[in-house]
Amino acid sequence: MAWGIIATWRMALEGIIKAKEILENGQSSLDAVETAVNMVEDCPEYRSVGYGGLPNENCQVELDAAFMDGDTLSIGAVGGLRDFKNPVSIARKLMQEKFNIFLVGSGAEEYAHKTGFERINMLTEYSKKEWYKKRKEIYDKNLNPYDGHDTVGMVGLDKRGKIAVATSTSGLFMKKHGRVGDSPLSGSGFYADSKIGAASATGLGEDIMKGCISYEIVSLMDKGYHPQYAAEYAVYNLNKKLIDRRGKAGDISVVCMNNKGEWGVATNINKFSFVVATDSQKPTVYIASFSNGKTTYKEASREWINTHTE
Ligand code: GLY
Repeated sequence: MAWGIIATWRMALEGIIKAKEILENGQSSLDAVETAVNMVEDCPEYRSVGYGGLPNENCQVELDAAFMDGDTLSIGAVGGLRDFKNPVSIARKLMQEKFNIFLVGSGAEEYAHKTGFERINMLTEYSKKEWYKKRKEIYDKNLNPYDGHDTVGMVGLDKRGKIAVATSTSGLFMKKHGRVGDSPLSGSGFYADSKIGAASATGLGEDIMKGCISYEIVSLMDKGYHPQYAAEYAVYNLNKKLIDRRGKAGDISVVCMNNKGEWGVATNINKFSFVVATDSQKPTVYIASFSNGKTTYKEASREWINTHTE
């Protein structure tokens, strides 16, 4: 049976290469997605996810993550989690619970501690320096503090037809303490149904959650639309709605895959990278862009891959 995996941003490449082996071996999409997202979380050079993530306004790294099993529709999520190594694994653990599946702040940390997760300081010296630099820029140049927010969102389909989706992010750079974005919110940052497909989003959480875009994409795929059509329709519909009603729309990019391993991508920004591997396609990094109301994409060069982390 077909298998495949798709993820937001170039930072997922090394994880996707590993996940491909797991899926090829016939193992579960839950394990493939968790392994791949853990690899992004553990890498300090990927600075908007996990260890070395972007700090909030108090120079604390507060992490959001989620996991969904498309067979059972089980969900686990954490928001504003501090000082734990792999938020996505904590979300996966929460997915096994019947109640209390979405925990935030100290409640999420207490759960992680009690269930044996490793506690480490997630703030690196590099992130601290970036924080001081950014704070100075904000005061000196009156800049908008809210940028640099790239979620890793990943959809995996295994040979048995199970679809899993997961997200992990440190959220907006300089966000308010306690701010939670779209990434751990079911239907906004992610959604999966093995009978249909799954989707995940990255960009400005405050706008993504206004359209519940991941659920919208899965609903469109359920109506029979190809993932590429579903992704573009959902992103440009929300983009237009936000511009019509609010004058502007934040960054919105999505990836999705249906239960046949067909995939789609859409963005309203100029450069959105993503990574795909399927039973008929080796792990490939693409760069998508938005022009004339459409998403186009091309394969990234080796040089681009070697010189970019986002
Ligand atoms: N999309 C991630 C966030 O807004 O936190």
